[in-house]
Amino acid sequence: MTNKPLILGISGASGLIYAVRAIKFLLEADYAIDLVASRAAYMVWQAENSIKMPPEPDEQELFWRERAGVEPVRGKLRCHRWSDVGATIASGSFSTMGMIIIPCSMSTVAKIAAGLSSDLLERAADVQLKEGRPLIVVPRETPFSLIHLRNLTSLAEAGARIVPAIPAWYHKPKTIEDLVDFVVARSFDQLGIDCIPIARWEGH
Ligand SMILES: Cc1cc2nc3c(=O)[nH]c(=O)nc-3n(C[C@H](O)[C@H](O)[C@H](O)COP(=O)(O)O)c2cc1C
Repeated sequence: MTNKPLILGISGASGLIYAVRAIKFLLEADYAIDLVASRAAYMVWQAENSIKMPPEPDEQELFWRERAGVEPVRGKLRCHRWSDVGATIASGSFSTMGMIIIPCSMSTVAKIAAGLSSDLLERAADVQLKEGRPLIVVPRETPFSLIHLRNLTSLAEAGARIVPAIPAWYHKPKTIEDLVDFVVARSFDQLGIDCIPIARWEGH
Protein backbone atom coordinates (compact mmCIF):
# COMPACT_ATOMS: atom_id res chain seq x y z
CA MET A 1 0.00 0.00 0.00
CA THR A 2 1.20 3.53 -0.82
CA ASN A 3 1.08 6.54 1.48
CA LYS A 4 0.01 8.78 -1.38
CA PRO A 5 -3.62 9.82 -1.27
CA LEU A 6 -6.19 8.75 -3.82
CA ILE A 7 -8.49 11.45 -5.19
CA LEU A 8 -12.14 10.46 -5.22
CA GLY A 9 -14.32 12.58 -7.48
CA ILE A 10 -18.10 12.35 -7.13
CA SER A 11 -20.03 13.96 -9.95
CA GLY A 12 -23.74 14.50 -10.50
CA ALA A 13 -24.62 11.14 -12.02
CA SER A 14 -27.17 8.79 -10.53
CA GLY A 15 -25.88 6.08 -8.20
CA LEU A 16 -24.10 7.92 -5.41
CA ILE A 17 -24.12 4.61 -3.55
CA TYR A 18 -21.08 3.78 -5.72
CA ALA A 19 -19.21 6.62 -4.03
CA VAL A 20 -20.37 5.61 -0.55
CA ARG A 21 -19.16 2.03 -1.02
CA ALA A 22 -15.85 3.23 -2.50
CA ILE A 23 -15.28 5.47 0.54
CA LYS A 24 -16.17 2.65 2.93
CA PHE A 25 -13.73 0.13 1.48
CA LEU A 26 -10.86 2.60 1.04
CA LEU A 27 -11.09 3.96 4.58
CA GLU A 28 -11.49 0.51 6.09
CA ALA A 29 -8.28 -0.46 4.28
CA ASP A 30 -6.62 2.66 5.73
CA TYR A 31 -6.19 4.55 2.47
CA ALA A 32 -6.00 8.34 2.44
CA ILE A 33 -8.71 9.96 0.32
CA ASP A 34 -8.97 13.50 -1.03
CA LEU A 35 -12.64 13.83 -1.88
CA VAL A 36 -14.37 16.36 -4.10
CA ALA A 37 -18.05 16.27 -4.99
CA SER A 38 -19.29 18.43 -7.87
CA ARG A 39 -21.99 21.02 -7.34
CA ALA A 40 -24.51 18.81 -9.15
CA ALA A 41 -23.64 15.86 -6.90
CA TYR A 42 -25.29 17.76 -4.01
CA MET A 43 -28.53 17.94 -6.00
CA VAL A 44 -28.41 14.28 -7.00
CA TRP A 45 -27.65 13.26 -3.42
CA GLN A 46 -30.75 15.12 -2.24
CA ALA A 47 -32.88 13.54 -4.99
CA GLU A 48 -31.67 10.02 -4.23
CA ASN A 49 -31.42 10.16 -0.45
CA SER A 50 -33.79 12.98 0.62
CA ILE A 51 -31.22 14.53 2.93
CA LYS A 52 -28.74 17.32 2.34
CA MET A 53 -25.02 16.79 1.80
CA PRO A 54 -23.27 19.51 3.85
CA PRO A 55 -21.33 21.98 1.68
CA GLU A 56 -18.66 22.69 4.33
CA PRO A 57 -15.66 20.39 3.85
CA ASP A 58 -15.24 19.90 7.63
CA GLU A 59 -18.83 18.71 8.04
CA GLN A 60 -18.53 16.52 4.96
CA GLU A 61 -15.95 14.22 6.52
CA LEU A 62 -18.34 13.19 9.28
CA PHE A 63 -21.19 12.99 6.78
CA TRP A 64 -19.39 10.54 4.48
CA ARG A 65 -18.03 8.50 7.37
CA GLU A 66 -21.54 8.10 8.79
CA ARG A 67 -23.00 7.17 5.39
CA ALA A 68 -20.20 4.66 4.81
CA GLY A 69 -20.37 3.36 8.39
CA VAL A 70 -16.64 3.90 9.00
CA GLU A 71 -15.21 5.04 12.34
CA PRO A 72 -13.20 8.31 12.50
CA VAL A 73 -9.96 6.43 13.24
CA ARG A 74 -9.94 4.44 9.98
CA GLY A 75 -8.08 5.89 6.98
CA LYS A 76 -7.77 9.57 6.19
CA LEU A 77 -10.50 11.62 4.55
CA ARG A 78 -10.00 15.20 3.41
CA CYS A 79 -12.97 16.83 1.73
CA HIS A 80 -12.70 19.78 -0.64
CA ARG A 81 -15.24 22.32 -1.81
CA TRP A 82 -16.21 21.88 -5.48
CA SER A 83 -15.25 25.47 -6.28
CA ASP A 84 -11.88 25.49 -4.46
CA VAL A 85 -9.55 25.42 -7.47
CA GLY A 86 -6.72 26.48 -5.14
CA ALA A 87 -6.89 23.20 -3.19
CA THR A 88 -3.89 20.86 -3.01
CA ILE A 89 -5.35 18.43 -5.56
CA ALA A 90 -5.54 21.22 -8.18
CA SER A 91 -1.76 21.09 -8.55
CA GLY A 92 0.47 18.51 -10.18
CA SER A 93 3.06 19.16 -7.47
CA PHE A 94 0.71 17.45 -4.99
CA SER A 95 1.57 13.81 -5.32
CA THR A 96 -1.28 11.29 -5.58
CA MET A 97 -1.76 7.68 -6.59
CA GLY A 98 -4.36 8.80 -9.11
CA MET A 99 -8.07 9.57 -9.21
CA ILE A 100 -11.34 7.71 -9.49
CA ILE A 101 -14.48 9.55 -10.56
CA ILE A 102 -17.39 7.49 -9.32
CA PRO A 103 -20.07 7.91 -10.49
CA CYS A 104 -19.14 10.11 -13.45
CA SER A 105 -21.71 12.18 -15.34
CA MET A 106 -21.59 12.77 -19.07
CA SER A 107 -21.16 16.46 -18.36
CA THR A 108 -17.98 15.79 -16.39
CA VAL A 109 -16.75 13.38 -19.08
CA ALA A 110 -17.28 16.10 -21.69
CA LYS A 111 -15.60 18.81 -19.64
CA ILE A 112 -12.54 16.70 -18.88
CA ALA A 113 -12.32 15.62 -22.54
CA ALA A 114 -12.39 19.30 -23.53
CA GLY A 115 -9.82 20.26 -20.87
CA LEU A 116 -12.14 22.84 -19.30
CA SER A 117 -11.15 22.45 -15.63
CA SER A 118 -14.13 24.59 -14.65
CA ASP A 119 -14.32 23.22 -11.09
CA LEU A 120 -11.99 21.39 -8.69
CA LEU A 121 -13.10 17.91 -9.76
CA GLU A 122 -12.39 18.63 -13.44
CA ARG A 123 -9.12 20.35 -12.64
CA ALA A 124 -7.94 17.42 -10.50
CA ALA A 125 -8.79 15.03 -13.35
CA ASP A 126 -6.96 17.26 -15.82
CA VAL A 127 -3.92 17.21 -13.53
CA GLN A 128 -3.87 13.40 -13.35
CA LEU A 129 -3.84 13.22 -17.16
CA LYS A 130 -1.17 15.86 -17.63
CA GLU A 131 1.02 14.20 -14.98
CA GLY A 132 0.53 10.76 -16.53
CA ARG A 133 -1.15 9.43 -13.39
CA PRO A 134 -4.03 6.96 -13.38
CA LEU A 135 -7.48 8.42 -14.00
CA ILE A 136 -10.35 5.97 -13.59
CA VAL A 137 -13.74 7.08 -14.85
CA VAL A 138 -16.92 5.23 -13.89
CA PRO A 139 -19.53 6.67 -16.27
CA ARG A 140 -23.25 6.30 -15.52
CA GLU A 141 -25.70 7.08 -18.25
CA THR A 142 -27.97 5.09 -20.52
CA PRO A 143 -28.28 5.10 -23.42
CA PHE A 144 -25.03 6.73 -24.56
CA SER A 145 -25.28 9.27 -27.38
CA LEU A 146 -22.60 9.48 -30.04
CA ILE A 147 -21.30 12.58 -28.26
CA HIS A 148 -20.94 10.65 -24.98
CA LEU A 149 -19.13 7.83 -26.77
CA ARG A 150 -16.78 10.24 -28.54
CA ASN A 151 -15.96 12.03 -25.29
CA LEU A 152 -15.32 8.71 -23.52
CA THR A 153 -13.07 7.71 -26.42
CA SER A 154 -11.14 10.97 -26.06
CA LEU A 155 -10.58 10.24 -22.38
CA ALA A 156 -9.45 6.68 -23.15
CA GLU A 157 -7.07 8.04 -25.80
CA ALA A 158 -5.67 10.45 -23.22
CA GLY A 159 -4.91 7.54 -20.90
CA ALA A 160 -7.99 7.31 -18.68
CA ARG A 161 -9.43 3.91 -17.85
CA ILE A 162 -13.18 3.69 -18.49
CA VAL A 163 -14.97 1.36 -16.07
CA PRO A 164 -18.70 1.73 -16.77
CA ALA A 165 -21.17 1.21 -13.95
CA ILE A 166 -22.24 -2.13 -15.45
CA PRO A 167 -22.28 -5.01 -12.95
CA ALA A 168 -21.77 -8.66 -13.88
CA TRP A 169 -24.03 -11.48 -12.80
CA TYR A 170 -21.68 -14.47 -12.73
CA HIS A 171 -20.83 -13.81 -9.08
CA LYS A 172 -24.51 -14.42 -8.20
CA PRO A 173 -25.32 -11.08 -6.55
CA LYS A 174 -28.01 -11.19 -3.88
CA THR A 175 -28.13 -7.58 -2.75
CA ILE A 176 -27.80 -4.12 -4.29
CA GLU A 177 -24.47 -3.83 -2.46
CA ASP A 178 -23.24 -6.99 -4.24
CA LEU A 179 -23.96 -5.33 -7.59
CA VAL A 180 -22.45 -2.00 -6.57
CA ASP A 181 -19.37 -3.55 -4.98
CA PHE A 182 -18.56 -5.46 -8.17
CA VAL A 183 -18.32 -2.19 -10.12
CA VAL A 184 -16.35 -0.46 -7.35
CA ALA A 185 -13.94 -3.41 -7.13
CA ARG A 186 -13.35 -3.39 -10.90
CA SER A 187 -12.55 0.33 -10.73
CA PHE A 188 -10.12 -0.34 -7.85
CA ASP A 189 -8.54 -3.17 -9.91
CA GLN A 190 -7.28 -0.52 -12.35
CA LEU A 191 -5.13 0.87 -9.54
CA GLY A 192 -4.09 -2.47 -8.14
CA ILE A 193 -6.24 -1.91 -5.06
CA ASP A 194 -7.70 -5.17 -3.81
CA CYS A 195 -9.72 -4.47 -0.67
CA ILE A 196 -13.24 -5.57 -1.61
CA PRO A 197 -14.19 -9.19 -0.96
CA ILE A 198 -16.08 -9.81 -4.22
CA ALA A 199 -16.39 -13.29 -5.68
CA ARG A 200 -14.13 -13.44 -8.76
CA TRP A 201 -14.50 -15.71 -11.73
CA GLU A 202 -12.35 -18.77 -11.26
CA GLY A 203 -13.31 -20.70 -14.37
CA HIS A 204 -15.73 -23.59 -14.71
C1 LIG B 1 -31.44 13.07 -9.94
C2 LIG B 1 -30.48 13.31 -11.06
C3 LIG B 1 -29.87 12.23 -11.66
C4 LIG B 1 -28.96 12.43 -12.71
N1 LIG B 1 -28.36 11.33 -13.25
C5 LIG B 1 -27.44 11.50 -14.24
C6 LIG B 1 -26.73 10.37 -14.75
O1 LIG B 1 -26.93 9.23 -14.34
N2 LIG B 1 -25.79 10.60 -15.70
C7 LIG B 1 -25.51 11.85 -16.16
O2 LIG B 1 -24.63 11.97 -17.03
N3 LIG B 1 -26.16 12.94 -15.69
C8 LIG B 1 -27.11 12.81 -14.73
N4 LIG B 1 -27.77 13.90 -14.22
C9 LIG B 1 -27.50 15.22 -14.80
C10 LIG B 1 -26.25 15.87 -14.21
O3 LIG B 1 -26.38 15.99 -12.81
C11 LIG B 1 -26.06 17.24 -14.87
O4 LIG B 1 -25.69 17.08 -16.23
C12 LIG B 1 -25.00 18.07 -14.15
O5 LIG B 1 -24.81 19.27 -14.87
C13 LIG B 1 -23.68 17.34 -14.04
O6 LIG B 1 -22.73 18.20 -13.45
P1 LIG B 1 -21.31 17.62 -12.99
O7 LIG B 1 -20.80 16.79 -14.13
O8 LIG B 1 -20.48 18.84 -12.75
O9 LIG B 1 -21.51 16.84 -11.76
C14 LIG B 1 -28.67 13.74 -13.17
C15 LIG B 1 -29.29 14.82 -12.55
C16 LIG B 1 -30.19 14.62 -11.51
C17 LIG B 1 -30.83 15.81 -10.85
